[in-house]
Amino acid sequence: MALADFVADLDALLTAAQQSFGGAADKATLEAARIEYLGAKNGRLKEAQKGLGKVDGPDKPAAGKRFNEVKQALDALFADAEARLAAPDAAAAGDPTFDPTEPGRRVPLGHLHPLTQTIEELKEIMGRLGFSVVQGPEVEDEWHNFEALNIPLSHPARDPLENFYLATAEKLASGPMLLRSQTSTVQIRVMEKTKPPVRIISLGRVYRPDDADATHYPMFHQIEGLLVDRGVTMADLKSVLRLFAISYFGGDVHIRFRPSFFPFTEPSVEVDMLWNDRWIEMGGAGMVDPNVLRAVGYDPEEVTGFAFGLGVERVCARKYQVTDIREFYHNDVRFLAQF
Ligand code: DAH
Repeated sequence: MALADFVADLDALLTAAQQSFGGAADKATLEAARIEYLGAKNGRLKEAQKGLGKVDGPDKPAAGKRFNEVKQALDALFADAEARLAAPDAAAAGDPTFDPTEPGRRVPLGHLHPLTQTIEELKEIMGRLGFSVVQGPEVEDEWHNFEALNIPLSHPARDPLENFYLATAEKLASGPMLLRSQTSTVQIRVMEKTKPPVRIISLGRVYRPDDADATHYPMFHQIEGLLVDRGVTMADLKSVLRLFAISYFGGDVHIRFRPSFFPFTEPSVEVDMLWNDRWIEMGGAGMVDPNVLRAVGYDPEEVTGFAFGLGVERVCARKYQVTDIREFYHNDVRFLAQF
């Protein structure tokens, strides 16, 4: 066999092996290529080695030298391919701009809206005080939003301009329907269905046609509390509100009652809380008016109760020094991400 033929065969073998090892995209393909070229029994290199014996005597040293070079080249090709497939990211291994030591990109994670967080926290606190959470509808009738709450037709709160009456609902329902203007509606719904004692809170949206400004929004949230039992007093109301405030705001919180008027409580008070040396107006409260107890079939001679209604935006805003409640609804993630 001529040396030139022997060398040509080896070169062809090398070119083919370069393609097979270099193109192997997974370990199984690479292993198949290894057996094909480097296999100890029938590998193509082994086959080529047989030709070495047939090369003319004087050319043997040159043929042997070339054979060894090709063998080393094949071993190196295999080792390279093996290393390439063992790298963590095979696709990136050939990319000089890929730096596996870079810290990586943080995936932005969402979380609950601050008001939702506040609502969950308030439920938790009141739950510990023995209040169970109930829900009421946001579309209400006049009985639950006004009548049963001792708010007569002549009361300014019933002015259609002060409420969101629903034109469509009116035609469907037996009477006018409106978006509830207060969560006190839930007091009635619960008492109508339950015998005393009652100890509930209800949190949810209420609607009033107010212009939006730093402290008003046409939709906001209230937390309503109601406790009816034998011998309930104003002192119980103050204790519960104080425990509530201490749990929510932390530290020592003082409660102040200012005389006020609500149709559904008698006496009625405005509730202020002293926190970080500032008085904060929290909402209204009082002893459930006997007319309300009668409207739901309770006997005011037997049971008494207290009720309160606080603004969720207000407590949350005060705790986190939010000065404009519209921030809660703009959905600017720069604001929301702070909670
Ligand atoms: N419903 C009242 C409002 O929206 C707040 C309120 C005052 C609720 C006194 C009560 C209460 O339960 O006893 O302004």
